[in-house]
Amino acid sequence: MTLICITSPKGGVGKTTLTANLAYTFQRQGKHVTVIDFDSQDSLKLHFGLSFDDTDGVVAEESQHSNWDNLIVTTDSGIDLLPYGRTNRKERLNFEKYLADSRQLEEALRPYYQDEDRVLLVDLPPGHSVSLDAISRLKPIFVTVLMADSSSVAVLPTIENGDFFPVEVESDIYFWLTSWICVNV
Ligand SMILES: Nc1ncnc2c1ncn2[C@@H]1O[C@H](COP(=O)(O)OP(=O)(O)OP(=O)(O)O)[C@@H](O)[C@H]1O
Ligand SMILES: [Mg+2]
Repeated sequence: MTLICITSPKGGVGKTTLTANLAYTFQRQGKHVTVIDFDSQDSLKLHFGLSFDDTDGVVAEESQHSNWDNLIVTTDSGIDLLPYGRTNRKERLNFEKYLADSRQLEEALRPYYQDEDRVLLVDLPPGHSVSLDAISRLKPIFVTVLMADSSSVAVLPTIENGDFFPVEVESDIYFWLTSWICVNV
C-alpha cells in the first residue's frame, strides 16, 4: 500500500520527469503502478507515449470525478495513467471544489494504492495548490524535488519552517535533488 506525492515549492525542477522515472522503476520491481497527473500542464502523459492530442483526463471529465476507472489509460509499458486532460478554467475550478472534500478523493484514489503490490504516484503542480492540500490529508509519502541552485535554496525556509506542507502533515517527507548534466558538443 503505497501512495507517493511528488511535489516542490519550485517549478521546473524535474517533478514530472521523476514521477515517470519512479513509475518505471516500481514497475520493474513487479509493482502494479498507477500515475495521476494533478497538474493542468497535462504533460505527464507525454512520458508514457500518449499524444499531445489525447485530451481526456480526470479533470476534463467532470461527470467522472467519482469513478476514474474508465479514464485510466493502460500505456504500452503496462503502467496505468490518469492524465489531467485538456481543460478550461471552469473545469479546473470545479475540480478544485471536488478536491475540497477529502472523503470523496480518498474513495476515488484508494483502489489504486490499497493493495500490497500497488503503487500510486501523484504528480503535482509547482508551489502551493489545492491538490497539494487535498493529497496531504491522505497522508502520502512526500518526495520534494529541488535543484542544487540558488532558486531552490531560496525556497528551503518555506519547507523547513513548515509553511509549504499543510500543518496537518504527519507523514514522511523525502527530498530529491535533481542534477542537470550538461554536455558541450
Ligand atoms: N535530471 C535531468 N537532467 C536534465 N534535464 C532534466 C532532468 N530532469 C528534468 N529535466 C528537464 O527539465 C525540464 C523540466 O522538467 P519537468 O517538467 O520534469 O519539471 P517539473 O518540476 O515537473 O516542471 P513544472 O514545475 O513545470 O511541472 C524538462 O525539459 C525536463 O526534460
Ligand atoms: Mg511538472
